Amino acid sequence: YPALGRRCLDTRLRGYDKATRFFNQCTTFECVLMKTLDEEISVSVSSNGAVPNFDVEKIRADFPILSLEVHGKPLAYLDNAATTQKPRVVIDAIRRYYEAENANIHRGVYYLSELATKKYEDSRKFIQKFINAKSAKEIIFTRGTSESVNLVAATFGRTNVGEGDEIVITGMEHHSNIVPWQLLCEEKGAKLRIAPIDDDGDVIFEEFEKLLNDRTKLVAAVYVSNSLGTVNPVREMIQAAHEREIPVLLDAAQALPHLAVDVQELDCDFLAFSGHKVFGPTGIGVLYGKEALLDKMPPYQGGGDMILSVTFEKTTFNELPYKFEAGTPNIADGIALSEALKYIEKVGYERIQKHECDLLAYGEKTISEIDGVRMIGTAKNKAGVLSFVVEDVHPHDIGTMLDHDGIAVRTGHHCTQPVMDRYNIPATTRASLALYNTREELDRLAAGLRKIIEVFR
Ligand code: ALA
Repeated sequence: YPALGRRCLDTRLRGYDKATRFFNQCTTFECVLMKTLDEEISVSVSSNGAVPNFDVEKIRADFPILSLEVHGKPLAYLDNAATTQKPRVVIDAIRRYYEAENANIHRGVYYLSELATKKYEDSRKFIQKFINAKSAKEIIFTRGTSESVNLVAATFGRTNVGEGDEIVITGMEHHSNIVPWQLLCEEKGAKLRIAPIDDDGDVIFEEFEKLLNDRTKLVAAVYVSNSLGTVNPVREMIQAAHEREIPVLLDAAQALPHLAVDVQELDCDFLAFSGHKVFGPTGIGVLYGKEALLDKMPPYQGGGDMILSVTFEKTTFNELPYKFEAGTPNIADGIALSEALKYIEKVGYERIQKHECDLLAYGEKTISEIDGVRMIGTAKNKAGVLSFVVEDVHPHDIGTMLDHDGIAVRTGHHCTQPVMDRYNIPATTRASLALYNTREELDRLAAGLRKIIEVFR
């Protein structure tokens, strides 16, 4: 199915004829095509948006928190780009670990230590397969995407970037894929170059390409934007960078909840993601790196487990991936992360994508029709994010008033202040979607917004 998904997305880029032909054979991605070809053909998903073999109520029942009431109203959780809710299998894995498996790993020769070690390393192997890395040595556990990016900046960056060198990012990066590079550039006298975005929230590809030159030491780009929803053309970006022998880091924090990620097929050099954005725990994340690159990089932090031997004169470092994992790691959450990914695998990206695609199209239509609402982020290729501003109403007021109706959205700059500057706005209201959201929740959001607009008129 990942191939089918990609083929479908590729088709969107190649034009109407091919898309129509493809559509005739394609039964699972109608709504993707509908978004691209809205003027030319209208393709309907079933009228209630139901996806075959995808029972959203059954999915919701797997997430205990979704049955909460907030201010006497059923919770409508629409802040999934900030963090996702956790299925029972993840919660159970954490509980089971502390009740029956807890011991330090890689150290003990006794039963519990060996059990915990096995579960932690099995989780790493599962993650390796999930993103199709060549080897488990390429999977480094971190605290999350921010730490993964900081690790690359502090190791690869410090050894490869010098005075006058350049790092290229896009105009829609999260602060965590800006600030580490700014710090590095300040330290080294290097320059951060920004590929601009257009009014829809797409990277202007020709401008991106123009920034790549002999001095470029790394491209660091977001796969899916957390504030605009744009799915970047990362394959083309990687290809353009590799033609000039420039390595590429992808911030895939917002990609993994929505799209199948295959690091070998993408051919990215580094990829970072967070557990808590993919239905796993907070405080755990992953850095994928190509083994040849990781091998050459110095360690990130010093401490236990990342060494082979220590004397006061000299330390030799452990092999990959342990060279980058100093100290006792976050064992329970490392184990629970693979439970979250197994959950996604069980539901299937194909069905998740189709369901979210329907929700996105439905939400965009429903919200943008409201008088006074302006959508921010209208890229052709989008995933799961509805960001908007409402004339004369501050997003924080909207957020607070929606909360009274039990609706959780994020308001603010979403850790992407340069994106707000690009649109000349201080903040947006953002509803961000996940596999367990429903059309009914979007109807409640729309009704809540109408009510708020009435109050402010
Ligand atoms: N990156 C998170 C968000 O988009 C915190 O809300």
